[in-house]
Amino acid sequence: MKKTTLLLTVIAVFAAWNCSGDAKKKETTLSLAQESFQLSMPGMAKEVTTYMETKGVAETVVYCQSFSPEYMSGKEKELIKLFAEKHNLQAVSIGRASLKTRNSSNTPDETQKQILDAWAQSEQAGTKASPTVVGKGKEYTAMIPIRIAGEACLKCHGPADTLDEEVKTILAETYPQDKAVGYSLGELRGAFYFKALYR
Ligand code: HEC
Repeated sequence: MKKTTLLLTVIAVFAAWNCSGDAKKKETTLSLAQESFQLSMPGMAKEVTTYMETKGVAETVVYCQSFSPEYMSGKEKELIKLFAEKHNLQAVSIGRASLKTRNSSNTPDETQKQILDAWAQSEQAGTKASPTVVGKGKEYTAMIPIRIAGEACLKCHGPADTLDEEVKTILAETYPQDKAVGYSLGELRGAFYFKALYR
């Protein structure tokens, strides 16, 4: 009897400890995600507006392309150097994901899609999406919402019939599979994601 009680206590303590470990990792993942978002895509909405005004559409497309998965993989290397030791991280993966992609490399994985779907539902019900983190054990994913933050975004993501001819041409040439149009101001466009693998 005593042994059973002891065993149950040990299991309960271990489970609590394990859960609190997961909770701590979730908290860490979310704050590293916020930090990584600032480091890898600083002031995006502002920069897009400035680019549009001073350099024109073609250059702004190039600017938006600079956040491609290739660019992100360069940033991942910097982030892992910054975070690995302090947070006991083995690997990080960052990028942008959306339910309606322009670049199909930004297609969400299963976990990311679940979060984006949940956000879409809550937005429909009138609750704004907020930063979200999921995971257990060693693997965690944090997502930060990206919105159509300014008029500038609409030049390339607004309703198809409102886009300038020049934009349409460039987009059609580069992204024949483009689904990322038809948005309105303030709408949820997708997410910045941060995946963490702990040791
Ligand atoms: C000049 C055109 C242009 C403007 C303005 C623009 N984008 Fe984009 N956007 C693009 C292009 C091109 C891509 C595809 C980039 C790539 O190849 O990864 C893209 C991709 C994205 C993605 C990644 C998901 C996907 O569809 O592939 C997000 C999120 C996004 N844009 C948000 C925004 C937001 C928010 C704004 C306003 C702050 C904005 N964009 C303004 C052209 C634009």
